[in-house]
Order: sequence, then structure tokens, then C-alpha cells
Amino acid sequence: MTTQLDSGVVARVRAILGDLDHCTDPVATARLLPREVYTSEEFWRFEKEAIFYREWLCVGHVREVPEPGDQLPLTVAGEPVVLLRDLSGDVRVMSAVCQHRGHPIFDGVAEKKTDTGCLIKNKRMVCPYHNWQYELDGRLVAAPSMTETVPVKRLRETIRLPQIKTEIFHGLVFINFDPDAKPLAPTLALLDEELQTWGLDELVPMPFDLRRELAWNWKLHHDNALEPYHTAYVHRGVHEAAPAKNARFGEWTPGDGQVMHPTYLTSEDASLASADGGRKSIIIPGLGTEQRKRVMFASVPPLLFGIFQPTMVSLSILLPTGPGTMDLRRVNLYPKSAVESEGFDEVYRIYKERKQVAIDQDAATTEALQRGYDSRFAPRGPLSWMEGNIPHLNAWLIERYTRLLEEIAQ
Ligand code: FES
Ligand SMILES: [Fe+2]
Repeated sequence: MTTQLDSGVVARVRAILGDLDHCTDPVATARLLPREVYTSEEFWRFEKEAIFYREWLCVGHVREVPEPGDQLPLTVAGEPVVLLRDLSGDVRVMSAVCQHRGHPIFDGVAEKKTDTGCLIKNKRMVCPYHNWQYELDGRLVAAPSMTETVPVKRLRETIRLPQIKTEIFHGLVFINFDPDAKPLAPTLALLDEELQTWGLDELVPMPFDLRRELAWNWKLHHDNALEPYHTAYVHRGVHEAAPAKNARFGEWTPGDGQVMHPTYLTSEDASLASADGGRKSIIIPGLGTEQRKRVMFASVPPLLFGIFQPTMVSLSILLPTGPGTMDLRRVNLYPKSAVESEGFDEVYRIYKERKQVAIDQDAATTEALQRGYDSRFAPRGPLSWMEGNIPHLNAWLIERYTRLLEEIAQ
């Protein structure tokens, strides 16, 4: 792949990444990445090329578009795309930039985004600018008042919304802007093994929450979500069911696409998904004995962070918009039998209310942390054993940064 980066940006990135010693060490000697990796505008431009335009990006779950005709517009790495289910039942992701003059099909006067969902049901996609219409496989089907210049028949034969390479992993929809990207699944062997029993593709998503303009870098979101060290202090009274001391950390191997660790619950009846720490809804059918006792925290960088607890799965889908800003789409999924059970709506309402406390606590912390990284006095560690995933994420990142810098040097 060629890059769009000018030499000034590359020089700045090389300077920022000048000292990566010990960034991937075990925690006892690990150092943080240089702070500019989280704050610099030039580094963000580099990162788009090194990561967002060539890695697998989780955009959602197949059941978010359950019926043919369901369309979910999203902006991923600045690109308007749509996740949809076409009329033959296949899940597709394609560019949502109209191939007439480039108006994003779901924006402008067509803007339908709300904080609780923006699912559109329609057999076609219609650009709001001049009403060009597209089939759900992206092919142009109608273009008003064009016949005088180009016969619509000819337009239909040649014009199609660009299709984006898509891979579905246990019901999670990933896209890759690099048409030559290697498959995702072989890099997710550990997560694949964990997910064998979860029936994740069958779980039912609740309407998603969209939070906009969060003021922190996407990598800080993963760091915070993956380290339980803060939970005893930031989430006092909210996180007791899965205390930090019960977290366990394994190894990360080069090539791994996931960074994850389990934290054991205080008992099999404990739950992070309720107000009082007790389990309120059924355990996901199929889970093994071990899986019923713990919560798995897993990142599939760059865009996915998942919390897999015995009663539910919570997916955070990061939508970075700049070096220090991102939007976040959160999707909670439950087994169908739980959703259909008596009293579920109330259980879910209370869960959401309680979870919001933790979300706000994390937001305050992560936003403050971003300001700390702006400081000339920002540190590079040291770390606690409970931050064992941070050098793992560093290693994932450094693999990508180094790869692009080497390509540019050739
Ligand atoms: S830009 Fe979409 S119809 Fe003209
Ligand atoms: Fe937290």
C-alpha cells in the first residue's frame, strides 16, 4: 500500500517513536509509549495509515441488522459507511458516499442519527441530494433527469457503491479498507477458543447507546478498560463483584490480534451487570464451568472492547475522530431466553442506570488522563501487575507502527 504521508509527518513520527525501549516488557520493567502517541495531530495522521486503513475494524454485530432491508449508517475512520442486510439476507458493508457528486447518503437532510439508534428499514438507499437510488448490493438503480446526458441503463451497468472487505467473526462484523488484507480469524485464536461456547452470533442486541465527542485518545480507552487497577478506587461500590485482585494475566504473542484477561467473580452468583452485584438474569446457555465464574475483558484493537460476563456481553465500539477525541457506540447483548423472560425490561433498566455510574466514572478519569498526557511532565511508568495488558497493547501497536515506517523507508 502507498501512503499519503508527507515527509514532515514521517520525520515527526520517527522522532516521537525514537525511544520505545521497554514498552513491551513484562510489567515489572514496562514503560508507557511516548505521550505524543496519544496527543499529536501528526501522529494521528500516521496512525490512520498504519492502523485504520489496513487493520480489521469492528463495526457492529450481525443482529443489529436482523431483517433484509435493515441499514445502519456509521462513520468509521472518517469514512461514511453502511452496515446492512441485503434482500437475500447477506450482511454487507459498503461506502455510503454517493457516486454522483459525493454526498454521504445518510447525512445532511437525511440525517437520522439519534442517541438510541438509527436503524433504517428500506429496500433501497436514496441519496438526499439528487435522489439517486441504490439497491442494497450497492448497484445504482435510478437517477432522475440523467437520461438527457447519460442513459440510466448505462449508469446502472457501471455505478455501484464501493464494497468494503468484510469478515464476520462469531457474529461480529469487521471491515478492512485494504482490499488485500489477510484474514482476521487466524489472528484471534485465543478469542475464538473462548467464544466457542458463547453463541455470540445468536445473542440479542439491545438498542445501542451512542456517546459523542468523548475527549480522549482511543488507545487510552483500551488501556483504561483493560486494567482493573483503577476499579477499586474509581468504581468503589460498583465493581466489587469482580475485584481487581481476582484478575489474571497471560502472555501476548507476536501476531495476536486480541489483548485480553479474565477477572474472577467473587462467587458464581455475583454479577457486574446488576445494581447490588447479584446475578439477576440467566447465565448464557452453553458456558463452561470456568466461564461461569469469571468476566473476560477483551480488546480487538483498534475499535472493539468487549466485556464477556456470564449473563451478558457488552461491546464498546470505538469511533475515533482525532488524536484526543472519539465517539463510542455501546451494544449490550443477552440470550434470547433472558430477553423474553418475565421482568427482563426492569432488570435491564436497573442495569443501565447502574452501569451509567461506572461509565461516567471512567469518562471523568479517562478525560483527565488525556490532559495528563498533554503535560510535558507526563511519565512513562512504572506499572502494577494489574496493568499487565498495557504492554501487550503497546506491542500490538508497535508492530503496526514499525511495519509502516519500514515500508516507507524502502
Ligand atoms: S450526490 Fe447523490 S444524488 Fe447527487
Ligand atoms: Fe473503569
